[in-house]
Amino acid sequence: MRSGRPCVSMLGGGVWIALCVLVLIAAITFHQEHSDPGDIPRMATDIKTLREEYKQLNRSCFILGASGETGKELLKEIAQSRLFSKITLIGRRKLTYEDEAYKDLVQEVVDFEKLDDYAAVFQGHDVGFCCLGTTKAKSGEAGFIRVDHDYVVKSAQLAKSGGCKHFNLESSKGANKESSFLYLRVKGEVEAEVEEMGFERYTIFRPAVLLCDRQESRPAEWFTRKMMAPISYMFPTAYSVPITTLVKAMLNNAVIPSEKKVELLENKAIHNMGKLGEDKS
Ligand SMILES: NC(=O)c1ccc[n+]([C@@H]2O[C@H](COP(=O)([O-])OP(=O)(O)OC[C@H]3O[C@@H](n4cnc5c(N)ncnc54)[C@H](OP(=O)(O)O)[C@@H]3O)[C@@H](O)[C@H]2O)c1
Repeated sequence: MRSGRPCVSMLGGGVWIALCVLVLIAAITFHQEHSDPGDIPRMATDIKTLREEYKQLNRSCFILGASGETGKELLKEIAQSRLFSKITLIGRRKLTYEDEAYKDLVQEVVDFEKLDDYAAVFQGHDVGFCCLGTTKAKSGEAGFIRVDHDYVVKSAQLAKSGGCKHFNLESSKGANKESSFLYLRVKGEVEAEVEEMGFERYTIFRPAVLLCDRQESRPAEWFTRKMMAPISYMFPTAYSVPITTLVKAMLNNAVIPSEKKVELLENKAIHNMGKLGEDKS
């Protein structure tokens, strides 16, 4: 009889450890969900009116990364909302669209390795949206830095010289130029370098895991999304954001006049900004 006891107590110990880990995870998640107040920079009482007023300004915009998951959704939202009088896509390849809503698009194909040769492409846009990016798994470490840092910073420089007044950067939750993680460090460095350029208005979006039906196979991201599904359900703003919410946040934010030169929207603020104007009924 005695010989069974250590086993039972070991099992009991294991259960306790598992419980402690669960409690710890729940506490961290609760903290993630509630620590970021998610204040949106200014309370927009009537986003619909602001959107209508914005249309009258006849602003032009460009999108970098319009073939990507965020870029695609952003383009769709911009084309449907008609917020801008001219939309230019800047990318490494020409994209094909059949929808009528896209018929007035301007497409500029550039060689990102020789961006200086394409300075003219970046001239005359009021607003820029940068949704460029790759992964270390896809492009290797050097390739990741090339795209996520070099191409983004160079594009921002050219846009600034070309007269862009409001630059919107899709960065990432946890971006930190001091981080020991390459991804977060590069994101933090880019945020800081673009800030140095002194745009009239500069908005940084720091989304957590993007929720979408990604066409490209990314097993690690897919696995994370599946694992997080129940947590996302219980704590919707802690670790993820639907891409549809992110792009609405980008546009809602753009139409709200800002007194701040630099705006930083963390994941919860993105959720709140993206939901402005939604019917609650
Ligand atoms: N995925 C997430 O959960 C997550 C979370 C937080 C932040 N972010 C960040 O958000 C941004 C957008 O993410 P996403 O998932 O929407 O991006 P995505 O679907 O991977 O699209 C990336 C875009 O960048 C372009 N691009 C990639 N490599 C390029 C190269 N070598 N030269 C020129 N263009 C290149 C792609 O063009 P092609 O179509 O021609 O390849 C595409 O338009 C990224 O900076 C990412 O780090 C992502």
